[in-house]
Parts: sequence; C-alpha cells; structure tokens
Amino acid sequence: MNPAPTALPDPRPELIAPDTFLIPHFAPGPDGLLLPVNSMVIRGREPVIVDTGAPLHRDSWLEKAFSVVEPEDVRWIFLSHDDGDHTGALMDVLERCPKATLVTNFFTVERLALEKPALPLHRMRWIEPGGHFDAGDRTLHLFRPPIFDGPTSRGIIDSKTRAMWIVDSFACFTPGSLDADELPPELLANVMPALNSAVSPWHAWLDRSTYGRHVDAVEALGARTVASAHGPVLRGERLADAFDRLRGLAGAPIIPTPGQELLDQLLAPTLVPAMEAVPI
Ligand SMILES: [Fe+2]
Ligand SMILES: [Fe+2]
Repeated sequence: MNPAPTALPDPRPELIAPDTFLIPHFAPGPDGLLLPVNSMVIRGREPVIVDTGAPLHRDSWLEKAFSVVEPEDVRWIFLSHDDGDHTGALMDVLERCPKATLVTNFFTVERLALEKPALPLHRMRWIEPGGHFDAGDRTLHLFRPPIFDGPTSRGIIDSKTRAMWIVDSFACFTPGSLDADELPPELLANVMPALNSAVSPWHAWLDRSTYGRHVDAVEALGARTVASAHGPVLRGERLADAFDRLRGLAGAPIIPTPGQELLDQLLAPTLVPAMEAVPI
C-alpha cells in the first residue's frame, strides 16, 4: 500500500440511471488505486437519499448531495446499514431535510444508539428485506445484499428504473473510473473477489447451492444498473460476471488480506532514516 496521495480525484455527482445520481468520493487504495466511497440520490416525485457517506467526506458529501436535490424536497432517507462510512452525514440530513422519513430497521437503531445522538423514532419506518416503500412515482424494494459486513444491511431496487443499490457488495479499487465498462477486466476479475472476501469472509463456510439460490434471487430482481458504496457502476455483461464471481466464492477459501509484511513495508521508509540518525 502506498502512502496517501496528497490530492485525490474529486468527481461530481453523476447521472447513472434516469433520476438516479451517484454521489462519489474516493479514499486512497493500494498501488495508487482508489477506493470508491459512494452514496446515491434518487430525484423522483419524492426524492430519496440513499446512505449519507463517510465522516471523512461529510462537508463535501453535503455539498454534492444538495447540489442534486434541495434539502426541503427530500422525502426519504434510506440507510442501508449502520456502518460509519454510510452514516457520516446522517444527523445533518435529518436536520436539513425536515420532511424526510428515515427508512431503517430495529437493529440499526439499536446499534446506532451506541454512537449517535438519539434518532427520531417518530420520523422512521422499519422495513425488512422483502418489504418496500412507496416514493410517489416508484416503489423501492428492499433485499438482503449477497455480500455484507453488517447484519443490518439491506439493498434497494427502484421499480421504475431498475437501478439497484447493493451496498458493500461488489467493492473494487479503481484507477479513477466509476464505470465498470471502462475498467480493465482483469482488475474486476482479481480485485473484486478479494474485496468481497474481505467484506464477507464467511463465504468460506457457505454451501454452494444454498448461497447460489440467494445470489440467483438478487440477480432475478432484474437490475439494469447496479451501484454500490465501494465499487464501480455495473451493467450488462460486467454485472453478470460480477454475480457469477459471487457464486464462485461460496465454499472457496478466504482470500487473505495484507498482514504484518505490509505494515513493515509501510514503516520501512520512516524507520531507515530514523535508524541512520542514531549515533553509534
Ligand atoms: Fe459496511
Ligand atoms: Fe461500506
């Protein structure tokens, strides 16, 4: 892993499907690559904010999200789960969007109670996978993502545009593009499984046919565009490949994440000059 670059690319919100904007940010990744940290805004009759970014990007997230939708117009905040990189601007959004209802669930609220000020129960709706909510000109259907790092995770698919938010599934470093069609196929083939494994190492204990049925069910929701918090936007063949690679993870060994060797490498440049400076 390289030291953090001084300036990361800072892309603007991008229309990825009708009425549907990706709110992109980056964090440094290995070898000069970037980790996407995305969320989404659906600008329909009843606008929906989908996750609220990472604390690191809070000010920029607020500027980008509210360049796409006026805060007072927002009617729904869909919170995919309670991880910090999805709840960065949650309290700001609740305050600045007084007409918005927070779509979440019991366990998310329990977990957030340990790290956030009390959330307004009277402004919530608790919806489980298989449930849905009506946003005026579309229905958002909730499902359990195929890869997740928190038990509260729920994705959504928009009935009108078939745009899907698949949360922490399909993470992948990128040299800069957030469109999978523009990325080298070998990057998707090698890095996406490694990050899926890092997010959900329990894949090693999955029965292939049982897990395959879950992946089939998510694929059968019929998404045309799939956006995620930490990967590129997937469509068509790249999307089919991504679902196939998920099936392949069931029962496969955990792909190791970096260990002490990487830490040693990261520290080496600072240790060497320090040791040279020690008087003998
Ligand atoms: Fe997460
Ligand atoms: Fe995440």
